[in-house]
Formats: sequence, C-alpha cells, structure tokens
Amino acid sequence: MSLMFSSPVVTPALGSFTFSSRPRSNYIVMSAVRSNSASTCPILTKFQKDCDTPTPYLRNVANAIADDMRDGLAVEGGGDLEMILTFVDALPSGNEEGLFYALDLGGTNFRVRSVQLGGKKERVLATESEQISISQKLMIGTSEELFGFIASKLASFVAKEKPGRFLLEEGRKRELGFTFSFPVKQTSIDSGTLSKWTKGFKVSGMEGKNVVACLNEAMEAHGLDMRVSALVNDGVGTLAGARYWDEDVMVGVILGTGTNACYVEQKHAIPKLRSKSSSGTTIINTEWGGFSKILPQTIFDLEMDETSLNPGEHLYEKMISGMYLGEIVRRVLLHMCETSDLFGHFVPAKLSTPLALRTEHLCKMQEDNTDDLRDVGSILYDFLDVEANMNARRRVVEVCDTVVKRGGRLAGAGIVAILEKIEKDTKRMGSGKRTVVAMDGALYEKYPQYRQYMQDALVELLGHKLASHVAIKHTKDVSGLGAALLAATNSIY
Ligand code: BGC
Repeated sequence: MSLMFSSPVVTPALGSFTFSSRPRSNYIVMSAVRSNSASTCPILTKFQKDCDTPTPYLRNVANAIADDMRDGLAVEGGGDLEMILTFVDALPSGNEEGLFYALDLGGTNFRVRSVQLGGKKERVLATESEQISISQKLMIGTSEELFGFIASKLASFVAKEKPGRFLLEEGRKRELGFTFSFPVKQTSIDSGTLSKWTKGFKVSGMEGKNVVACLNEAMEAHGLDMRVSALVNDGVGTLAGARYWDEDVMVGVILGTGTNACYVEQKHAIPKLRSKSSSGTTIINTEWGGFSKILPQTIFDLEMDETSLNPGEHLYEKMISGMYLGEIVRRVLLHMCETSDLFGHFVPAKLSTPLALRTEHLCKMQEDNTDDLRDVGSILYDFLDVEANMNARRRVVEVCDTVVKRGGRLAGAGIVAILEKIEKDTKRMGSGKRTVVAMDGALYEKYPQYRQYMQDALVELLGHKLASHVAIKHTKDVSGLGAALLAATNSIY
C-alpha cells in the first residue's frame, strides 16, 4: 500500500509545460538520428515518406477530427468519435468530504484506492492504494472470472483498512467511483454498457452489458457492502482529479497503452443532449481512438490492424498509443530484413514474434547517446537475438523515430482539435485565459521524443499566440482521485 499526496500530483521531472510565445528554432531530436544518418535504404525512405505529417497535412487531420467531434455531438453514431455523454455536469469543487473509494480498470493492472476527503481546507486527509496485475488469461476470459477476481481483491483491500485513518460515517454504505477505461455507452452517472473492448481485452459475453451490474454482482458474491456511485472513463477521472487542484483544467488526455481525451463542453453545443436544460457545461468523453479518416496508414499498420483483437477499430489509437508503436517498428524491421538484408542474410526468428519489441525498447534506443549506439546494439541482441552493425543500428533508430514522430504529431493534432473547439465556444485563450490540458499515461511520461513531437505539432497548428495560454500538465495517477471525488459528488447521501 502507498501513502500519497496532500498537494497537486504533478510529476516533478515533467511538471507543467507552458508554451513560450517565442518560436523555437528546431526540434530536439534524439542524437542517434541527428548524427550520421543511415545510408540510403529504399524501404526506409518510402516508409518515412508514407509516415510524413507536414503541417498542412496535420492541419487537415485536426480539421477532420473537429468535424467528427461535431458530427458525434449532433447525433449518436454521427462520426468516428463517439462523443459520449458522461453525465458529469459538476466537477469537484474542493468541498467534498468523507470516505470514498476508487477502482481503476483499464490495462494490465487495476488499482484500488481509498480517499478520506476533508473539504476545502484539508483536501485529501489520507489515501491508500494498491495495484494488482491482471493475467492475460483474465483479459480474454469470462466476465465472472474478471469481476470475481477484482471484487475479491477489493474486499481484501477494504479488510486491511486502518480504522484510525479512515472513517465511514455511520449509517452509510461505502461508495465507489469505478474508472472503466473502455468505450462505454453511459446511461446515467452510475450505469453504462460496454460498446467494445480495446487494448487487448476480449472478455466474453460483455459487449452490450451493464458493466456496473457485473461489478455489483461480483461485490455481492464476495460479501462486499459497497455501491458504485459514479462510472467514469480514465480521461474523465484525470480531468476531474486535476480540476480539484486547478480550476483552469479543461481537457484530460490519456497517452498510455491506449489513448483518449475528455473535455468540458457547453451543453448548448450538444444537439444530441435531449435534456431540457441546455445551460451550463458537461464532460464529453470523445473516445478519439476511434478516429479513422485521412490517417497516414502504411502496409505495416494495415497488417497489424488485421491481426489485432479489434480489426478495423480504433485506428488512431493504433497509430499514437503505447500498445502499438513497438509492434509497428517490429513489422517494418522484419520487412527490411526479409527484403533488404538489414541484418545481413539472416532473419532472426524472434523478429517474427508479435509484440517482441515494445514501445519502451524504442524509447531506450532513441535515448542512446553513445558513439557506437551500444544500447541499441544490446536491445537488438537481448530482445531480437540479433547482432547489428553500426549501419543497421542507425536504420533501426530511424524507423523508431519515424513511428514515434508520426504518433506524437498526430496526438498533437487531436489536442489542437479539442482546444480549438473549446476556443470557438468560450474564447478563453483569445482573452488571455490559461487553459490546462491534464495529461496522464506512461507513453507521455516516459518518452521525451514523443512528448516533444506532440508539443511541436501543437504549437505549429495552434500558433504561438494561442499556444502561449496553454499548459500541458502531467497529472500522474489522478484518475483514481477523480473517480473518488465524482463518487462523492454523486453520493446518494
Ligand atoms: C479506450 C478508452 C480509454 C483509453 C485510455 C482506449 O482504448 O477506448 O476508453 O480511455 O484507452 O485508457
């Protein structure tokens, strides 16, 4: 268990990035590519050309995302972006008090958290959390197995609670904010049906089912007296958790295994919202991973998509998120090996193994500053069983850079589409108001080149003047706090 914050959770190393109003002269690109470029290789040259995202092209991508946002807000299923109504109309104010829980399910780990909220002055009095890994078997098993496992871990977490630190008011049931990070058609703040699985999950019989009911049944079966008061996406949780500390947060973005963005929208700008009140704001979960138009798809992207668990779906996610970047690189390297002797005449068996190369390996290779690209050599040796000469090492790094640059720049275009939508309705940046994008996810956190490409694209498209009012704030792991806060806001008591 870990004890956590009483102040904003911003990773010190990254903190908050505000765009300067002065143009920057150039990118900081990894030294491995900056130094001697790999000798010409037609496959690499073509791949680089196919992945290229010059500013005018990126502008078209941002505009196409904006069009799909508008269409998705107009009618259900109107555009690639689902633009899900989250029923979160009120964001945390700081006044929340009491003991609340959060359960975060969205990747290969899930996290449980308890939070004792002390109101405006004291904020987070105590919090504890525990992270538990989910086996591959559970990710593709049955809903009873998955939720049974989660409920049992949640029950033992609650059983370990120290009474002195956490206090449940008498007569109250424990209340939980459930962060479920998959596309859900939300039917109220505390219910919603799963539209489809993403990120390698494929639990049988769950699509179209109410995910809260699945969790409730499992909690009951484990004798856990707890109710779900808020069902939220991780993007919504990030936005809510970050907003608790900073009123200027308008967008929550996840760039990790998967990707998504949620933002504060004016109700009058949502034609499909059939409620009588059209004043005020609400949070929209864009599910932007589903965007699919005018993307620079290569043969490698197409092949990877075909063999994925969700072919034809979440194509933008498959170009910009952490689960896929390593796999795209592996496929390009395999092709270079088979057709142009990348590693001599030998095609290493491991290079044919899906997912053998992970995004974190790309990052390590791009960070290699040694003259002989020693780290690149070791990673290729350790993970692909390959002895690569200097030229091959350089080529590998160029492939990594091409994929990461494309991903980062496309992610930047998505953020711009959202910021411009906010700007159109509120004119906040134009009037000099600071606008914060709360960001979470290991890809953003751990991959400096990706971050840089994303930020550069954002300035290129938004222009220096507007960009100077934007802050990208790395708010690590606040989605659990956000979910607990939303459980408090929507408490039945
Ligand atoms: C899911 C989103 C989620 C994102 C980040 C995507 O695959 O569709 O709901 O927010 O991953 O976890």
